[in-house]
Amino acid sequence: MPRHDFLIPLNFKHRVCFTRDAFSSDNSLLAELLEEGGGRRVLVLVEEAVVDLWPKLASEIEGYFADLGFDWRGIRVLKGGETVKNGDELVEAVWHTIDEEHIDRHSYVITIGGGAFLDATGFALATAHRGVRLVRFPTTTLSQDDSGVGVKCAVNRFGKKNWVGAFAVPFAVVNDFQFLHSQDEETRRAGLIEAVKVALVKDDEFFQWISMNMEALAELKPEVLEECVERSALQHAKHIAEGGDPFESGSSRPLDFGHWAAHKLEQLSGFSLSHAHAVAVGLALDTLYSAKCGLLRECDAERVIDVIEMLKLPLWHEALDLRDEDGRRRIHEGLEEFREHLGGELTVLLLRELGRGQDVHHLDEGLVDSCLDELRRRYAVVKKAEGRC
Ligand SMILES: NC(=O)c1ccc[n+]([C@@H]2O[C@H](COP(=O)([O-])OP(=O)(O)OC[C@H]3O[C@@H](n4cnc5c(N)ncnc54)[C@H](O)[C@@H]3O)[C@@H](O)[C@H]2O)c1
Ligand SMILES: [Zn+2]
Repeated sequence: MPRHDFLIPLNFKHRVCFTRDAFSSDNSLLAELLEEGGGRRVLVLVEEAVVDLWPKLASEIEGYFADLGFDWRGIRVLKGGETVKNGDELVEAVWHTIDEEHIDRHSYVITIGGGAFLDATGFALATAHRGVRLVRFPTTTLSQDDSGVGVKCAVNRFGKKNWVGAFAVPFAVVNDFQFLHSQDEETRRAGLIEAVKVALVKDDEFFQWISMNMEALAELKPEVLEECVERSALQHAKHIAEGGDPFESGSSRPLDFGHWAAHKLEQLSGFSLSHAHAVAVGLALDTLYSAKCGLLRECDAERVIDVIEMLKLPLWHEALDLRDEDGRRRIHEGLEEFREHLGGELTVLLLRELGRGQDVHHLDEGLVDSCLDELRRRYAVVKKAEGRC
């Protein structure tokens, strides 16, 4: 029987923009982006928490579009946060709105909110009509410095993170710095962990810059925070565009450094622990492991742990000690779940140097346990010191 192999070339333009006050009448960025795609119909979905913080946002957006000649389909305000990724409601609500407003593949849907809101609405938009044009406005530190510029969307199922989702390149991403300074201090600082991650695996100069600007970052000095977010977002986008595997068909996942444990820990904590906090623990664990298995210099591992501590992020969470009936720590299940989710051979990135990773295909469970014991010990010391203050 004859066999025919066809090559299907695909090229996507990934538009990543940085601005401030995108909806003020003298800011033409968004209008120019939408003109570029040629679509006319526009619908906006905004996370409720964002509208609560900017009560005038809806009227500003309506004012912005009033004279631009688009087929304006209005604004919908919807709930966000991690819980929306655990249920069906938000995805269903978005599908209904797409249908009611006759949004088609050439229409634009602008989504404004945190990473969880963008993930869940993004999934609904990637699947409605097999994909409508999405313009993302991330509003948290983590979503601006990482997830917002990504080409993935997902919701959680079977108690597992991002179990159902899609790869879909957004039409554009607009990082509007007006949204960046309203989260509480701890959450804003925590979102910087993804910048630390991408610096550690891709860009030693960026890691040096983070270390040198640590005090200003910990104090959330606006211009330093914005520079950090921008550098991180661009480094993530660069990896996606130029790393050779935008839709992750291979096994190597540098941007998932520290994430095998982070995703399991989020689940073990019943999703009470945020993604950013879980990533901090996951980074600390895989950094310590990199040193203990002889790949990374001890002094470099200490520098990474120092940065995590200066961001006032945790090195430990009590769910790391949850055990199954055989006494095995449940966090270890995260490795197999990570492999299954990504497919193929287990591939975990460890650090070789600051700014350079190395893929490995096996982690020694005993060594992981001794790293966890050490993290618990360090955490206890920090807590004790805090108690004395
Ligand atoms: N798709 C990807 O490639 C990718 C990558 C990394 C992370 N993620 C996902 O992103 C999610 C985490 O995103 P997150 O850290 O933004 O959390 P989040 O979306 O849960 O937002 C955190 C909290 O901040 C609120 N919020 C949103 N914008 C705000 C603002 N401007 N000011 C004050 N509060 C605001 C939200 O309502 C929420 O309560 C996780 O679900 C994670 O799995 C996805
Ligand atoms: Zn992450």
